[in-house]
Amino acid sequence: MTHARLSSLMSRGADFLGCETAILCGAMSWVSERNLVSAISNAGGFGVIACGAMTPELLDAEIAATKALTDRPFGVNLITMHPQLFDLIEVCARHGVGHVVLAGGLPPKGSIEAIKQKGAKLLCFAPALSLAKKLARSGVDALVVEGMEAGGHIGPVSTSVLAQEILPEMAGQLPVFVAGGIGRGEAIAAYLEMGAAGVQLGTRFACATESIAHPAFKKAFFRASARDAIASVQIDPRLPVIPVRALKNAGTESFTAKQREVANLLDSGTIEMMEAQLQIEHYWAGALRRAVIDGDVEGGSLMAGQSVGMVTKEEPVAAIIAQLLDEAAQALERRAA
Ligand SMILES: Cc1cc2nc3c(=O)[nH]c(=O)nc-3n(C[C@H](O)[C@H](O)[C@H](O)COP(=O)(O)O)c2cc1C
Repeated sequence: MTHARLSSLMSRGADFLGCETAILCGAMSWVSERNLVSAISNAGGFGVIACGAMTPELLDAEIAATKALTDRPFGVNLITMHPQLFDLIEVCARHGVGHVVLAGGLPPKGSIEAIKQKGAKLLCFAPALSLAKKLARSGVDALVVEGMEAGGHIGPVSTSVLAQEILPEMAGQLPVFVAGGIGRGEAIAAYLEMGAAGVQLGTRFACATESIAHPAFKKAFFRASARDAIASVQIDPRLPVIPVRALKNAGTESFTAKQREVANLLDSGTIEMMEAQLQIEHYWAGALRRAVIDGDVEGGSLMAGQSVGMVTKEEPVAAIIAQLLDEAAQALERRAA
């Protein structure tokens, strides 16, 4: 089997990222820390640190620790609503981080300039074609198109539809990486042929040997099938919450209770909408930590995408990447025959 066609289809994305293979491991809060990130980059992929709610000091330490484990490029994912976003950008710049991924909404005023001024490349999520165009116009260097099959915070549209809407229009202008629901190489081959520069996977890597996720968290993934990874439901129209895809457990119910509590605070005028949304995000960060770090698979949040059914055992990152690449290369070969 030859990987020549696959390498050629991946070359634009790999060149952009500065790695061998255009497979990003999307940032996963609590999971994407020094061990998983360095393992991904050392295996030829592109690891991304999940900054989440970290303080600038914690991010500084995490980047330094990751650098000690790999001399290959990796990125940092920052959440736009972090109150110290500009300090975090400064930390990335001080370390010479080459790629910053901004998640959680449109980049706030000044953030694109601040990131690019220091020489880093900026990747943003484009949840619709109109936003993809807007982001490209504002100087973003690459896009991630993520469908609702993904784990964690999701938009309303599937990966296959977003890819069809966005790739033909945007792939000529800038590299576009497709994410959400990718568990095997055949899907990678298909998106590359449609014009993607590469792909981003989260769920498939969450339980790798190098992932620090608790054994109970990993076991829950190995047992789950696609239909267990469900999106959270908004219970109050006045409180718009971004849906989160996770494995169904008791924590799913406690999110409903949390929404009621926050909606009541909004009603009574105790808090403003911005604070209400921050409280919801803090809830998720805490719940995810309980599952990933403490192994509380009942009360915590088991964020997972629909590809979770294809995660069946603990494997080293290098084996997962090798398998994905073989599957993709074989699919391309079959089509060429
Ligand atoms: C446990 C978990 C935590 C995540 N945390 C984040 C995060 O902090 N920031 C972010 O931009 N995306 C986050 N994501 C999304 C991933 O980066 C990635 O885009 C997604 O997992 C890709 O879809 P897949 O799960 O179908 O592979 C998370 C996903 C999971 C499964």
